[in-house]
Amino acid sequence: MRFGHLAGRFFGALSPRPPRSVDVAWVRSVCTDDEFAVWSRQPAHDRRHSVAVARRVQAALAGTEFADDPRWIEAALLHDIGKVDARLGLMGRVGATLAGSVAGHDLADAWSQRRGITRRVGLYLRHPEIGADRIRRCGGSDEAARWAAVHQTPARHHEADLPDVVVAALVAADDD
Ligand SMILES: [Fe+2]
Ligand SMILES: [Fe+2]
Repeated sequence: MRFGHLAGRFFGALSPRPPRSVDVAWVRSVCTDDEFAVWSRQPAHDRRHSVAVARRVQAALAGTEFADDPRWIEAALLHDIGKVDARLGLMGRVGATLAGSVAGHDLADAWSQRRGITRRVGLYLRHPEIGADRIRRCGGSDEAARWAAVHQTPARHHEADLPDVVVAALVAADDD
C-alpha cells in the first residue's frame, strides 16, 4: 500500500504537465502577488499537487459556512510551499523521507545548517516551518501560515487554531 502509493506519486511526478490555466488564474486570484511568484517557481508536479489539494478542499467546504473564504483555499494551496527551498528532486525526496524516518526529524535543524545534499535534506524535512515563514514574508494570511507550520504533524494540527471542519478538509485533501 505504502509502496504502491509512493510509486504512484513517483511516476506521476515525472510529468512536466503544468496545471490548467484556469487553475493558475485561480491561484493568482487567491494568493498575494509575492505568494504567487513563489508558487510559480515550484516544479510542475508540486503546482499540480497544490491545485489538486485546494480543489478538494473547495469541494469539501462547498455548502458549508466556510465556503468561499479564500484563507482556507490559500492554506491548501501553500501548505507545501516550503519545499521550494530544498530544491530536491524526486530521488532526493525519497531519500530525505527515509532519512527523516530513520534518524528522526530532530536532526533536520542541524542538517539544514550543513552544506550540499545534507543541507537540502534538512531543509526538505523542515518544509513546514520554512513554508510558514515564506507565507508571512509574502504577506499571506496568518491562517495559511499556521496551517503550513503544523500540516505534517497530526499531533500539532490543533495549534493552527482553524475550524475543525476546515482542518478535516485540509487533512483529507492532502494525499502526499
Ligand atoms: Fe508537506
Ligand atoms: Fe502535500
